[in-house]
Amino acid sequence: MRIISIANQKGGCGKTTTSINLAASLALNGKRVLLVDLDPQAHASLGLNVNSQNSLYNVISKITPRKLELEETILNIKNQFDLVPSNVLLGTLEQELSDEIGRELKLTTALARVKDRYDYVVIDCPPNLGFLTINALRACSEVIVPVEPSRFSIQGLERLSDIIQLVKDRLDHNIEYKVLITMFDSRLQHCFDMLDKVREGFSAHLISTIIHVNVKLKESVVVGKAVAEFDKYCRGSKDYFSLAKEIIAQEVGSIKDFSPISARMKKVVKEKSKDIIATAFTLNAPQAQSVYIAGDFNNWYVDESCRMRQEDGRWAADLDLKPGVYQYRFIIDGRWQEDPGNPRKMENAFGDSNSVIEVK
Ligand SMILES: Nc1ncnc2c1ncn2[C@@H]1O[C@H](COP(=O)(O)OP(=O)(O)OP(=O)(O)O)[C@@H](O)[C@H]1O
Ligand SMILES: [Mg+2]
Repeated sequence: MRIISIANQKGGCGKTTTSINLAASLALNGKRVLLVDLDPQAHASLGLNVNSQNSLYNVISKITPRKLELEETILNIKNQFDLVPSNVLLGTLEQELSDEIGRELKLTTALARVKDRYDYVVIDCPPNLGFLTINALRACSEVIVPVEPSRFSIQGLERLSDIIQLVKDRLDHNIEYKVLITMFDSRLQHCFDMLDKVREGFSAHLISTIIHVNVKLKESVVVGKAVAEFDKYCRGSKDYFSLAKEIIAQEVGSIKDFSPISARMKKVVKEKSKDIIATAFTLNAPQAQSVYIAGDFNNWYVDESCRMRQEDGRWAADLDLKPGVYQYRFIIDGRWQEDPGNPRKMENAFGDSNSVIEVK
């Protein structure tokens, strides 16, 4: 069972949105998932249309008249997707247990009871570093830290590493952390500037999938559904599906599972790839700090997979494309531009031009 906390002491950076939609997408990928709403604001519960009397409070508190085991608080949301709901009483635990030794292990102990029932536990943390977040960090071995561009600051990043250090030092517990860029607006240059800053300081920790700003993620919360249920074709759904795939690909043994490739699998791969053509894109921009390529071949999405590599002042990317005609643009230091080396263009809806390439 992999336990992943979604934490950042900074408010409103997409923790709850990530918790709900990562959990739902993992379940859609066939995983058995438990989402633990650990925030007394209960936004994850409300975002799934759950308003419950029960929460972890009933499991952990010693003075509650309604004492429960963890299993008794669990609600089924959909297929393999379960929830431990929250309510405002969770916020009183810190004071109730202030003198208790080992209080930071309460969640670890509770989760041990369901370790065979789930493949993943996703924990939505409150926006602080109090008792509840420390319990989550102690229970998990991985943390995803959502970082939202417009409020991003160097101080925020430094505090992020403080969290991890704190747990390592004080609780003697090793945690792997990953940074997830959320609410990314690829029309805004400062989002690319921020992405560069995160990469500079935290490249080894950066999750390749980027969560773009998408109004469907807001609307789905209002109707109490995961976005994949609300609108499975929107960008928010695709982004969180891609995040789930990336997380699953990190599973120990996941590479081994594909190897050795069976004869049947080899045939499928060969058939699928026979009309795919490796297509090279290059750009001469020695001053540029970062260059991405986006086009209708990738739905104009920006993520780490469309970042171009630098080779002696030239930027290059090799994309596997099927034969066809494609429109594309480069994003050079956050500014969308047509390809200066390609005379073939087509006017776009914004009054600019997209470059056009035909793959044969
Ligand atoms: N990718 C996105 N695109 C558009 N809106 C988003 C996106 N991610 C989150 N939001 C919206 O931003 C707001 C804050 O998001 P969310 O509640 O997930 O943050 P949080 O970190 O859990 O906040 P808190 O610190 O209060 O717990 C919500 O209204 C949510 O619907
Ligand atoms: Mg939240």
